[in-house]
Amino acid sequence: MKTWKRILTAGVLLTTIVSLAGCNSTRGSSSSQKSNDKELVYISMPTEAEERWVKDGNELKNQIKDAGYDVDLTFAQDKVEQQNSDIENAINKGADIIVVASKDGSAVGPAVEKARDAGIKVIAYDRLILDTEAVDYYVTFQLEKTGVWEANYIIEKLGLDKGEKGPFNIELFTGSADDNNAKYFFKGAWELLQPYFEEGVLVSPSGKVTKDFTVDDWQDISIDSWKMEKAQSEMESRLAKYNGGSVSLDAVLSPYDGISKGVINAIEGQGMPWKVGSADWPYITGQDAMVTALSDILEGKQGETVWKDTRELATKVAEVCVEILDGKDVETTETMNNNVVDVPSILLDSKSVTKNGESDAKDTISVKDVVDSGYVTAKQVGLE
Ligand code: GAL
Repeated sequence: MKTWKRILTAGVLLTTIVSLAGCNSTRGSSSSQKSNDKELVYISMPTEAEERWVKDGNELKNQIKDAGYDVDLTFAQDKVEQQNSDIENAINKGADIIVVASKDGSAVGPAVEKARDAGIKVIAYDRLILDTEAVDYYVTFQLEKTGVWEANYIIEKLGLDKGEKGPFNIELFTGSADDNNAKYFFKGAWELLQPYFEEGVLVSPSGKVTKDFTVDDWQDISIDSWKMEKAQSEMESRLAKYNGGSVSLDAVLSPYDGISKGVINAIEGQGMPWKVGSADWPYITGQDAMVTALSDILEGKQGETVWKDTRELATKVAEVCVEILDGKDVETTETMNNNVVDVPSILLDSKSVTKNGESDAKDTISVKDVVDSGYVTAKQVGLE
C-alpha cells in the first residue's frame, strides 16, 4: 500500500473507531488489518443465494489472485447494512480497490464515499452505484440489450413481426426496484413491445400493464431482490385472472431466470391445463443462463435466456484492477450517468440462448453451445 494511502486509511480508520466506539460495536479492531504488504482487492458481492454471484465472485477472486494480489471476497446476503459493513471492513483492512456489485445502488453510496476518502478506488461491478461521485469505473454488459433479446424472442415466436394480430396475452415482470439494471432491461424490452400494446395486439389480462405504461413505471411490476418466491406468489395472484386456464397465456417477459422459475412454478402449482411442449404453454424469457433455466429450456418450460458470460466480466474487471494497481490508464468505452457523474464504463456483449439456437437473431446460440464453452457441464443441465 502506498504511503499516502496509509495516511488516509489511518485517518478513516480512526474516524471509524471513534464512531463505532459510540455505538458499542467490536468492528474495526486492528485484527482486521492487512497482514502483509501485497495490494489488496476487496470484492463485495450482493448475495451468495444466487448462482451467478457466487460464480462471479470466485472467478474474479481467482483471476486477481493469479495476477499476484491479495483478495477478500464477501457476500452481503442481499442486505444493505451487511454490504456497508463489508465495505467498512475493506477500508479498515487497507484495501487498495473495492469491487462492488451492489445490493442497492443508492444505499451503498455513503459507504463507497468513505472508501474514496481513504484513497481507495471503487469499481462498480455489473450494477451501477448511484447518486455519488465516489465510483471510479463501471464494468457491465450492454443493459438494454437484455430486454431487446427478450422482447425480440417473444415478437418472433408470436409472429408479430410477420403481422400476426392475436390478440396475445402476456405478463410482464421487472427486476428488483433497488437495482438500476432492472430499469434498463425493461427499457430495452418495452420500447419494442409497447407499440403492440398500443395496437391491441398484446394485452395483459392481469391489468398490470396497459398501453399507457411507461418505462418510468417499471417499479410497479418489480420483484423485490429478484426473488423466485416473490415472482411465484405474484404470478399466482395474476393467474386468478386466467379463469383456471380458459384464458390463454401466450408469453411472459421475465428479466431473470430466478423470476422465470417462479413463474413456471406458479403455472405448474396452480394446476393450469397448459401442457409443456404444447401450443398452450407460454413463451417465457429469462436472463443469466442459470443451470435450472438451461434444463428448463431443454425441457421446453422456459423458452429463452440471455447469457452474459460472467467469466468475461470477471476477466475485464481483473484487468481494470491490474491496470489501476500498475498505475496505468484504464481504457473505457463509454460513460454511464449515475445521477451525479458520468462514470467511465465498459459494456460487454451478451448472447441469447434457446434450445437449439433457433431464432433469426444473430448471436442466438443453443444450450449445447453454452455447455461447450465450459460455463456449465452437460450433466448439470441434463444434456447427458
Ligand atoms: C442483475 C444482473 C442480472 C441478474 C440479476 C439478479 O443486476 O444484471 O444478470 O443476475 O441482477 O441477480
